[in-house]
Amino acid sequence: MTSDIIRQEEAREAGTGKTLHVITWGCQMNVYDSARMTDVLRPLGYRPVEAAEEADMVILNTCHIRERAAEKVFSELGRLRKLGEERRAAGHGRTVIAVAGCVAQAEGEEILARAPFVDIVLGPQTYHRLPEMVARAARAGGAVIDTDFPAETKFDFLPAEAAPQTDGNLTAFLTIQEGCDKFCSFCVVPYTRGAETSRPVASVLAEARRMAAGGVREITLLGQNVNAYHGEDGAGGVATLASLAAEIAAIPGIGRIRYTTSHPRDVDQSLIDAHRDNPALMPFLHLPVQSGSDRILKAMNRGHTAEEYRDVIRRLRDARPDLALSSDFIVGHPGETEEDFEATMRLIREISFAQAFSFKYSPRPGTPAAGAPLQVDEAVKDRRLQALQALLREQQDAFNADMIGRTLPVLFTARGRKPGQIAGRSPYLQAVHVDGPETLIGQTAPVLITQRNSNSLGGVLKRERACA
Ligand code: SAH
Ligand code: SF4
Ligand code: F3S
Repeated sequence: MTSDIIRQEEAREAGTGKTLHVITWGCQMNVYDSARMTDVLRPLGYRPVEAAEEADMVILNTCHIRERAAEKVFSELGRLRKLGEERRAAGHGRTVIAVAGCVAQAEGEEILARAPFVDIVLGPQTYHRLPEMVARAARAGGAVIDTDFPAETKFDFLPAEAAPQTDGNLTAFLTIQEGCDKFCSFCVVPYTRGAETSRPVASVLAEARRMAAGGVREITLLGQNVNAYHGEDGAGGVATLASLAAEIAAIPGIGRIRYTTSHPRDVDQSLIDAHRDNPALMPFLHLPVQSGSDRILKAMNRGHTAEEYRDVIRRLRDARPDLALSSDFIVGHPGETEEDFEATMRLIREISFAQAFSFKYSPRPGTPAAGAPLQVDEAVKDRRLQALQALLREQQDAFNADMIGRTLPVLFTARGRKPGQIAGRSPYLQAVHVDGPETLIGQTAPVLITQRNSNSLGGVLKRERACA
């Protein structure tokens, strides 16, 4: 305890009056983590700044999911080193460089070997120890590395006074579950984020209440397998995502709840029912399927068939007829034939997605698929990806075009680009612009959609009174 206090003091001295810049790559969980690292350092005197050029400390929060992750990190580190040298030449102190996130976890030692000017390397489960690492780095002037999977969880160490992590204080991410035990053939996440763990309900609710009190209206619950959530409910039982969402919906001010990323295998009846019964759950679901071929799904170790996926979608759409879907696809997994690819195209045509992310399979070191036979040619992957993306783009366009003439509840989050305009988001995460009073910012109001722009929708307020 005493040594903790001494370290905190040391860290405070190291940080007083200093500036911090965080660069974030990867998924929303990294966005959340970057915000928490900023929180953890704020009481030590680190103030966030927009530009790396102005920062006394730079944290590079990295992602390892697809190709050339490490190369990208080294090239960015080269740039940061140069910036640091220029700052020094201009009379500033030394820039502290920290590498966080999933590349740090997977390749921490290599980072220190290849980029010895890096001061701190920390994995995704240790950012609550940052203050201590900053103090140690300041003291020793040597590199500090911490890529443990510690017994204590970082969530128990969130600063209580933390500002809610929001864009304009109205929407926020909240991590409720981390890690993954599913070991899909292609994926590094189980290795970089560790075993699956859920935060206890009380801890999630406390953070959600803090967010609501800070003005947040829409919360996105995050986890690599967010619907595998099984946090302690405080009464000796285990909560589900559905029960957690019901409790969050009861917090005054929270009108909208989303969750991502969910796994088809973990969609249970309680979650399907929640889409019918919990009006705060937005009718927009990201449910990655990766492939429409049973053979490839099996090779991927996804644990379900294409038909089981279709069945889940049918049941969800029965429960919530206005539900729109988004998904992830991988083309060119080892062994994928033209026939397998066609099965994926067929599934896309049948289900129709409002949005999707699609990728060429990228071999990740240490994963089973990387060493599998029958790797697919790059040229074939390119061709398949193009065809798949063309189809998905068509569906996305059709989905957006279909909004015209409909009335959507829009949560207004900001002023618009033009004077007199306000901007918000639809239930489907589309940006919506209307002419309207700034007093509506922070509220949800019905909008008749009248036009489609390249990246947003335009409409008119049905009435200038907020929805309930
Ligand atoms: N937990 C989520 C996915 C997290 S990773 C799930 O199971 O659905 C986000 C997406 O990146 C994946 O859905 C997948 O489409 C893609 N991805 C992951 N590893 C990949 C790889 N090695 N090559 C190409 N795409 C990959
Ligand atoms: Fe990766 Fe599969 Fe886990 Fe998703 S479920 S994080 S794709 S291993
Ligand atoms: Fe990337 Fe790690 Fe997220 S590998 S996708 S930052 S969990």
